[in-house]
Amino acid sequence: MSEPLLKLDGVTQIFQVGTLLSKVKIYAVRDVNLEVGGNPVIFTLVGESGSGKTTLANILLRVIVPTEGSVYFLGKNIRHYRKPEFIRLVQPVFQNPYETFNPLKKVETYFHLAIRKLQIARDNGCTAESIIDKALNSVALSWEEVRGKYLHEFSGGQLQRLSIARALMVNPVLLVADEPVSMLDASLRIFVLNLLRKLKEERQLYVIYITHDLATAYYISDYIAVMLRGSVVETGPAEKVLLDPLHPYTVLLRESVPNPYEEAKEAVSWAGGEQVLEIEEYIEEGCKFALRCAHAKAICKQKMPPDIPVDGVVVKCWLYERTLGKGV
Ligand SMILES: Nc1ncnc2c1ncn2[C@@H]1O[C@H](COP(=O)(O)OP(=O)(O)OP(=O)(O)O)[C@@H](O)[C@H]1O
Ligand code: SF4
Ligand SMILES: [Mg+2]
Repeated sequence: MSEPLLKLDGVTQIFQVGTLLSKVKIYAVRDVNLEVGGNPVIFTLVGESGSGKTTLANILLRVIVPTEGSVYFLGKNIRHYRKPEFIRLVQPVFQNPYETFNPLKKVETYFHLAIRKLQIARDNGCTAESIIDKALNSVALSWEEVRGKYLHEFSGGQLQRLSIARALMVNPVLLVADEPVSMLDASLRIFVLNLLRKLKEERQLYVIYITHDLATAYYISDYIAVMLRGSVVETGPAEKVLLDPLHPYTVLLRESVPNPYEEAKEAVSWAGGEQVLEIEEYIEEGCKFALRCAHAKAICKQKMPPDIPVDGVVVKCWLYERTLGKGV
């Protein structure tokens, strides 16, 4: 692949809240630069509540047009794709599978609707049922198990698998999964996470996995981006970022989980296990970690640090300023 699958270039989303007289600007996402490419990967966005994960997901899915910056998919600005073309490439999986399906409609209705809208059967010369069955098989379900049934006849885990199957019907290149397991109980969590890994391998699917749960991030990720108050503060191969973090915020996260891979295996089987630190106090300008950081210097409170490449990882921290321009 000559162009990266996904490239985010200076993506910023500002929300204006308040009254006409006193408006407050919220930087939900701030100057995010990321690339996802190479072989299929699970790329995780991990961050505390309010760090901008869902806003970024909505930008990737074209639900929101960012205030600044651009997103490129295979080298083309996502705004320039026709809607049906884009839907076939990028599919969402949401947090709450109960909201994906209307309780008054048979679940199969959604599969038939997707086939009709996107003319999947006609393109492939297959029957609708065989396409649905194939998608359901990918998530360890079958057409026989689904036919004629309503939402209340499925468990939460089955519903999440159904929403993944619906997304798979168009044979997408990328899934954007926003907290897909946070509403599931322990055993179903593992099942769905393992399913995402299997789909990556078997269907060559790229997955953007979004979570505030460090344990599942440890468990599943190939690459990871750590978000703090709208910024990506550290990104790189998961093992490198999680075992040998550079950004002081990631270091703090890492310290909260002393044996990441061992604890992750256990943690995904806990009912809870949500371990991202909440940073309550922060300053508007400069580094969002400055009030908690033991290494903070004057510039940290005045100016947002740039993205600095350090040995295969990109880190947004003034500590690494000296490596700028040295091609490290
Ligand atoms: N439509 C909106 N209008 C105003 N502010 C918004 C809007 N959507 C999000 N925000 C704000 O933007 C920031 C980022 O929100 P976002 O939902 O993207 O965070 P998140 O990381 O997904 O959090 P969570 O883990 O709780 O889902 C928050 O401060 C939120 O209050
Ligand atoms: S930029 Fe400064 S305050 Fe922010 S993490 Fe780095 S050293 Fe700490
Ligand atoms: Mg969210």
